[in-house]
Amino acid sequence: MALGTLAEIAVRLVISGYIFAVVVYVNASGNWDKDDDLVSTSKVSAVLGRTATLPCDIEPSTREDRVYMVLWFRDYAVKPIYRQAYLTVFDVRGRAFNKALNWSDSTAVGPRAYFVTVTKPAALSLEAVQLDDEGVYRCRVDFKNSPTKNFQVNLTVIVPPHQLFIYDSSGVQVESVAGPFRVGVEFGLSCEVRGDDHGKILKCRGENPAMTDAYLEDFFKLNVVFPPKVQLHLGSTLNAENIKEGDDVYFECKVRANPEHHKITWRHNGAVLTQNYSAGIIMSTQSLVLQGIGRDNAGNYTCLASNDRGETTSPIVNLRVQFAPVCTLKEVTIIGASLEESVKVRCEVDADPSEVDFFWEFNNSGENFEVTGQARFDGNNGTMSELVYTPQSERDYGALTCRGRNAIGKQETPCIYQVIPAVKPNPLNNCTIKASLNQSSEILEVECVPGYDGGLHQEFRLEAYEVLTGNLRVNASSVSADLPIFRIAVADLLPATHFYLVTYAVNAKGRSEVSLLEDIMLRDSEKHTGN
Ligand SMILES: *[C@@H]1O[C@H](CO)[C@@H](O)[C@H](O)[C@H]1NC(C)=O
Ligand SMILES: *[C@@H]1O[C@H](CO)[C@@H](O)[C@H](O)[C@H]1NC(C)=O
Ligand SMILES: *[C@@H]1O[C@H](CO)[C@@H](O)[C@H](O)[C@H]1NC(C)=O
Ligand SMILES: *[C@@H]1O[C@H](CO)[C@@H](O)[C@H](O)[C@H]1NC(C)=O
Repeated sequence: MALGTLAEIAVRLVISGYIFAVVVYVNASGNWDKDDDLVSTSKVSAVLGRTATLPCDIEPSTREDRVYMVLWFRDYAVKPIYRQAYLTVFDVRGRAFNKALNWSDSTAVGPRAYFVTVTKPAALSLEAVQLDDEGVYRCRVDFKNSPTKNFQVNLTVIVPPHQLFIYDSSGVQVESVAGPFRVGVEFGLSCEVRGDDHGKILKCRGENPAMTDAYLEDFFKLNVVFPPKVQLHLGSTLNAENIKEGDDVYFECKVRANPEHHKITWRHNGAVLTQNYSAGIIMSTQSLVLQGIGRDNAGNYTCLASNDRGETTSPIVNLRVQFAPVCTLKEVTIIGASLEESVKVRCEVDADPSEVDFFWEFNNSGENFEVTGQARFDGNNGTMSELVYTPQSERDYGALTCRGRNAIGKQETPCIYQVIPAVKPNPLNNCTIKASLNQSSEILEVECVPGYDGGLHQEFRLEAYEVLTGNLRVNASSVSADLPIFRIAVADLLPATHFYLVTYAVNAKGRSEVSLLEDIMLRDSEKHTGN
């Protein structure tokens, strides 16, 4: 296998007595292939919390050769967890000596790992061993001249029993001496060990120290039942930071359980996933495959396994799906503008990565051209671009379109803004009136249906006039900005009793026609509520 691609260039500089060494790793990740020739596979065990020693023979086969680089890998990962490079450094007199430079992946073993070369064989020393350190480790040794050597070490983590208790047949704890018992009497002792030692052999042995070889013993294999231990990983060949729309991804759920777990349940953002070939959701014993993912597949994934001791949910794995920009708004936005009027057109998109470049175009009766001249940009800010647009002739009315582009690609469907000549709003329709009581004061509520806003922001107003005198008694705006709903306190109308109401909409271009509500009479009872 081609392992010789790793290139290290050492640049040496000697400047007035100082020693410099610059190392350039052209292929710093190295590589591991299952087909590589293994020199040996060894088994190592370490007690939880103690130090594990993973051997790796770095002795060159000839005296003239020397080690160049040692790389440690975990499982089948491509990225090393530990690297030790040997440089030749020259001092001021031109004498060469060896210097070791080490690096350790802080997300894996971090400072707990150190490569010890004074021992024979050399070994990776891994301190404060944790449960999830258990697994397969590979050591790759590159020499200056001889071919690369690979070693495999299987590390098992031993969890010692924490406590040991012995009880007699009446359940009393035995500290040091049990008995005395009469000859011929049958007695029982029970031994309780706490810890997780599934598959180990528990042996009980009774011996008489006064007589050699006089002992009785019995043993059995422990069948320790425990609820599942569950780990979830994104497929090991995938790079979590480089997944985009349309890709296929898979997750692996690793389960250890006794008794065996029944089946695995997968969840996406809390909702249970079901197998669906047409939707590209495929489940096998321990993995979940998602084909041709979309951005709705992004989010938090878990797997859950259960046996009759309980059920366990894995820690959450977040799936990031990068995608080309899409418009935040699905509908066409209508923008009313008078000639020579500057309007702000804001284009907002969703995108991952969120660094987006924007392209604006103007389309008038099938003619398409890039926006320049009559427009000025107020700036782009990540996923937002704002254009200040000023129609200068009838030809400048039409569709403005905006498309974003990020590292994944160009926006497929543009955001569309229809720029139309702004006009006065249309009148309000279908006004209804009703009286209600609000905290013991009588209220008249008038509700209308809004008309077309003329392409601009509109507001709603109501005026109440006394029929007999024609005097304006109330001039109110709507209680809500979006809907023509008005509330008038009856007390403001009294003591007159006969009115007509006028409602209208108003925008920057002016007022709509009015809608009239005639013959509003306040009854006597209402007339007196004010007192
Ligand atoms: C499978 O996915 C398709 C397409 O998304 C959907 O229409 C269908 O309802 C799904 N079937 C089941 C059983 O969920
Ligand atoms: C330009 O507008 C016309 C009419 O509204 C439409 O049919 C055409 O698809 C648009 N062209 C582009 C490139 O958006
Ligand atoms: C006004 O009310 C009438 C009758 O209820 C209805 O037919 C009409 O569609 C309404 N107009 C609006 C603009 O809501
Ligand atoms: C009512 O108030 C609005 C807003 O202040 C004003 O424009 C309008 O002229 C007033 N109506 C009358 C009849 O004064």
